[in-house]
Amino acid sequence: EKGGWSSFMRKEVSEQPDAVANTIRGRITDGVVAIPELEGFGDDALRDIRRITVVACGTAAYAGMVAKYAIEQWARIPVEVELSHEFRYRDPVIDEHTLVVSISQSGETMDTLMAVKYAREQGARAISVCNTQGATIPRESDAVVYTHAGPEVAVASTKAFVAQITALYLFGLHLARVRGTLSDARLAEQVEELQAVPEKIGTVLEQADRVGELAHWMSDTRSVLFLGRHVGYPIALEGALKLKELAYIHAEGFAAGELKHGPIALIEPGQPVFVVVPSPRHSANLHPKVVSNIQEIRARGARVIAIAEAGDAAVLPFADEVIRIPLAAPLFEPLLAVVPLQIFAMELSQAKGLDVDQPRNLAKSVTVE
Ligand code: M6R
Repeated sequence: EKGGWSSFMRKEVSEQPDAVANTIRGRITDGVVAIPELEGFGDDALRDIRRITVVACGTAAYAGMVAKYAIEQWARIPVEVELSHEFRYRDPVIDEHTLVVSISQSGETMDTLMAVKYAREQGARAISVCNTQGATIPRESDAVVYTHAGPEVAVASTKAFVAQITALYLFGLHLARVRGTLSDARLAEQVEELQAVPEKIGTVLEQADRVGELAHWMSDTRSVLFLGRHVGYPIALEGALKLKELAYIHAEGFAAGELKHGPIALIEPGQPVFVVVPSPRHSANLHPKVVSNIQEIRARGARVIAIAEAGDAAVLPFADEVIRIPLAAPLFEPLLAVVPLQIFAMELSQAKGLDVDQPRNLAKSVTVE
């Protein structure tokens, strides 16, 4: 089943361009996003939504965090992202104008299932983003937008993550069209960006060997930090989660802006820090802020591995290593920047002789609360 690959994870990481392309297929016609599965849900119901609550766990929750930035920007609906197990037990404020969007690769995660059931009992409507046809969570929802990543076998979620972001972005664009919050020209730009993602992921995958070398040099590392900002922040969290689960290394992700509020105290000579650098073209002008974060940690001896856009020369004087991602509109960068972090964790796990597909203490789907 591994088809010549040394692990399922390696195979699934390489399948990411297809996971995105297959999730887009049938949902963009003549440059216009229309998700057929949402027809039954109805445009009036989509116009009636006052806020969105995303419920998910682990990597799926990070996909939700990425999508929050896009959906709020495009559809102008407030989005909150909740860990399913926290949501369910804190008497959340939900009503019939709340849309609950659950995200689950397996569609069987008990915490997320319970959150969806609870939200519907309170009158909310529920849409599920799921990778497994006919799973329990989609059956308990009002509508389902399937990701078409294909079966994911490795415990660490990779191709399902990029497919989840893709499906949520399609959903955000569908909402923006129905609610009239983006001009046709802006919608068309986003569609083009999305359609270009598979090929760009392919370009990132070409650097796998370099990332692998980096992981091999770092196989004795005891702690790795990850920094990101805006949509790069959930990617920092995802990079840290991958490293914990696959290489059993202490890892933490931070919002780069939070550094001065505490985490910078952790920086000591030799501390490896991955930094997801926003594009210099980011409209909120976050690039110089993150470059100055890099300078601050470098001055304290951190070993900086920057993930930066092709041609971004500002990071060169301060980073020990630079991994390049192709140019993309800022909201689409997470789909590219996550790939080297997945490969890094996978290679470090293998360098330590660990079972990359089946890490200790973990199950592919968590079907108990
Ligand atoms: O099947 P689900 O997407 O609901 O699973 C959610 C998490 O358990 C899952 O993403 C987990 O965090 C992965 N092991 C991460 O690689």
